[in-house]
Amino acid sequence: MSPNQKPLTIAPATGKLAILTPGLGAVATTFIAGVEAVKRGMAKPIGSYTQMGQIRLGKRSEKRMKKVNELVPLANLNDVVFGGWDIFSENAYEAAKHAQVLDKDTIEALKEPLSKIKPMSAVFDKNFIKRIDGPNVKTGKTKMDLAEQLRADIRNFLKDNGCNRAVMVWCASTEVYTPPTPVQATLKSFEEGLRNNDPSIPPSQIYTYAALKERVPYANGSPNISVEVAALQELALEMATPICGSDFKTGQTLLKTVIAPGLRNRQLGVAGWYSTNILGNRDGEVLDDPGSFKSKEVSKSGVLSDIFSAEQYPDLYSDIHHVVRINYYPPRGDNKEGWDNIDIFGWMGYPMQIKVNFLCRDSILAAPIVLDLALFMDLASRAGMRGIQEWLSFYFKAPVVKQGLSPEHDLSVQLIKLENTLRFFTNEELINHLGLTHYGVDEGENA
Ligand SMILES: NC(=O)c1ccc[n+]([C@@H]2O[C@H](COP(=O)([O-])OP(=O)(O)OC[C@H]3O[C@@H](n4cnc5c(N)ncnc54)[C@H](O)[C@@H]3O)[C@@H](O)[C@H]2O)c1
Repeated sequence: MSPNQKPLTIAPATGKLAILTPGLGAVATTFIAGVEAVKRGMAKPIGSYTQMGQIRLGKRSEKRMKKVNELVPLANLNDVVFGGWDIFSENAYEAAKHAQVLDKDTIEALKEPLSKIKPMSAVFDKNFIKRIDGPNVKTGKTKMDLAEQLRADIRNFLKDNGCNRAVMVWCASTEVYTPPTPVQATLKSFEEGLRNNDPSIPPSQIYTYAALKERVPYANGSPNISVEVAALQELALEMATPICGSDFKTGQTLLKTVIAPGLRNRQLGVAGWYSTNILGNRDGEVLDDPGSFKSKEVSKSGVLSDIFSAEQYPDLYSDIHHVVRINYYPPRGDNKEGWDNIDIFGWMGYPMQIKVNFLCRDSILAAPIVLDLALFMDLASRAGMRGIQEWLSFYFKAPVVKQGLSPEHDLSVQLIKLENTLRFFTNEELINHLGLTHYGVDEGENA
């Protein structure tokens, strides 16, 4: 334990945890099916840091590695109960079939647990998601009424399923880009907006509000503007509840945050980065609408401008042409294909190119992130953390950070932050990777 560190107490993970997802589509059903498969020994939780990750404790010479889920008290998968909301009334078995991510045999083998998960009726507004519409939708006089209904859903779900706590992870479609207005500036103006049906409040903010009012930690898996707004950050602090976001970092952006820091660390210049994708699932259909695409474009674009700071490195990055395209192409379904062409330059300005062709599976990459976020947000809550959880930036394309701070995008730095937070939670020594003690240098207080 570091000298100035105060011991932290974490409430044990006893009882059942509800993982609630607005949206029971491709990502949510792949996540739920995967956990059920793991519980039955049908699959391994590949891609999940909470289930497979190991963390070094102490000095390298101590050779002390621990599994993440043995270091921190995370909810056991057998104690997790799934629930969600969707505008379609298909249960999770039907929705998984519809999503066509998993093979038929796997879905059939999991029919029993998946069929039990029936979506609660959604808060939905066609003004914010243009390309789809469905029947399983709440009605209410005001947005505050709708928020109250969601709060009642949460309470009823906990009661009916014998759960003593819950977390919410947004897995519903991407909304039209909606930058905050003065309504989202303070909690007071936001609540007035809810009561007055202010048109600038999208459904995702109503879910976030409802979750926080019930002290349910909220993670934003989409590029929606929800936990980003000042009013909801204020509420998270007031309710002493953790929040994090935004937009699961899965395919192309995951690779960007590995490659781009590498180029910058070696002081290689970048003239352009052209990213394009073909995608044929319902997410692709929704993103085919320019308003929803704008949300994605904003969350995907910030990564490079932050990593390649033109201000800090004018000779290397002052004129980068960064283009991001997502093309809806139904034959591919959930199997997205992404191409990146990166024009770089090196010693004396000589140009070079990097080509990346990632044939990925969108929901297969996203599912373990949902699991990790749910378990870590529950941990954060039991550890008394509140407000923005920047240590979970590892999972997001556009990490939410306190106003005035710049987000950290480099995946390896994000992992160091995450690991040190887990060490901090467990009163283990933080690791600074200095390593000079091994070479006879006195590190003093740094050791
Ligand atoms: N790799 C990935 O798959 C990935 C990566 C980053 C972010 N995301 C984001 O995750 C989200 C889910 O992706 P998906 O592939 O599962 O999409 P999907 O279209 O398969 O599922 C989304 C579901 O949300 C439902 N929905 C829409 N509005 C709703 C509302 N207001 N309340 C409740 N349900 C609502 C839809 O009916 C649909 O069933 C999207 O926002 C997507 O951008 C996905």
